Amino acid sequence: MYNLLKGKRGLIFGALNDKSIAWKVAERAHEEGATFVLTNTPVSMRLGTIDQLAEKCGTVVIPADATKVEDLENLAVKGMEQLGGKFDFVLHSIGMSPNVRKGRTYDDLDYNYLQQTLDISAISFHKVLQVCRKLDAINDWGSVVALSYVAAQRTLYGYNDMADAKAMLESIARSFGYIYGREKRIRINTISQSPTITTAGSGIMGFDNLVDFADRMSPLGNANADECANYVITLFSDLTRKVTMQNLFHDGGYSSMGMSLRAMKIYNEGLEYRDVKK
Ligand SMILES: NC(=O)c1ccc[n+]([C@@H]2O[C@H](COP(=O)([O-])OP(=O)(O)OC[C@H]3O[C@@H](n4cnc5c(N)ncnc54)[C@H](O)[C@@H]3O)[C@@H](O)[C@H]2O)c1
Repeated sequence: MYNLLKGKRGLIFGALNDKSIAWKVAERAHEEGATFVLTNTPVSMRLGTIDQLAEKCGTVVIPADATKVEDLENLAVKGMEQLGGKFDFVLHSIGMSPNVRKGRTYDDLDYNYLQQTLDISAISFHKVLQVCRKLDAINDWGSVVALSYVAAQRTLYGYNDMADAKAMLESIARSFGYIYGREKRIRINTISQSPTITTAGSGIMGFDNLVDFADRMSPLGNANADECANYVITLFSDLTRKVTMQNLFHDGGYSSMGMSLRAMKIYNEGLEYRDVKK
């Protein structure tokens, strides 16, 4: 432990269970000396195990649906009261697509579901930032991180309308990063994480194969949730004060690859199998 977040206060969205990326971030932030409040929707609080995390980290959970501005206002006010001051860091680790959940393909989207995907997975980030700014809830030189995926830049089979949500999320980080940076030196970044076995991740079609493919394509292998948490901690720390408006790949090199030896081997085996069958 490096005491990287000693004396810092934070707000962490998105810990559902001990697989969640936000859960790992909370554990690491606690180890690094931060105090923070946790939040999730009332339904996720019931379905998941966030109370156990709160107990472990000596904190509380304040319920909020991140698509509801009133919930976010209440959260920011109560969170600052609980911590005795403004936030130094905020983690947005929220994603959900009803189209993915209901098995609707990208060429047969339900548009009401699409609105919900965008609201939950992208516009909620704008709402969090706008509420925090209006309430002046983040300290100067604070740091905000949201989690993204490479499907924002490249098409990946099965990622569906979440790709559109991630593209929007990354754009919000840039647009709000300019305003918050100019005014308060607050930095806003997204981390584009490897496929990771969590509740949200596992909802994606063919997810296990995607994890295997990404791992074979990445010279360093897939980054797991613990490694992601470490990276988030560096962005919350004072060591990265001039990094802002960036989408930062945390993917073992995947996003710069075209084809790897390990992936080619599997492809060749597939071709041999095809030739045998012929
Ligand atoms: N798992 C992966 O492969 C992967 C890869 C790259 C990026 N991400 C991103 O990481 C983030 C966290 O996902 P995860 O993989 O830890 O899965 P997860 O299922 O553990 O977390 C998703 C969280 O979003 C919360 N959420 C859903 N609707 C909400 C709402 N209306 N208000 C507030 N919270 C809401 C859920 O309750 C849950 O806690 C997401 O943005 C996801 O897209 C995941």
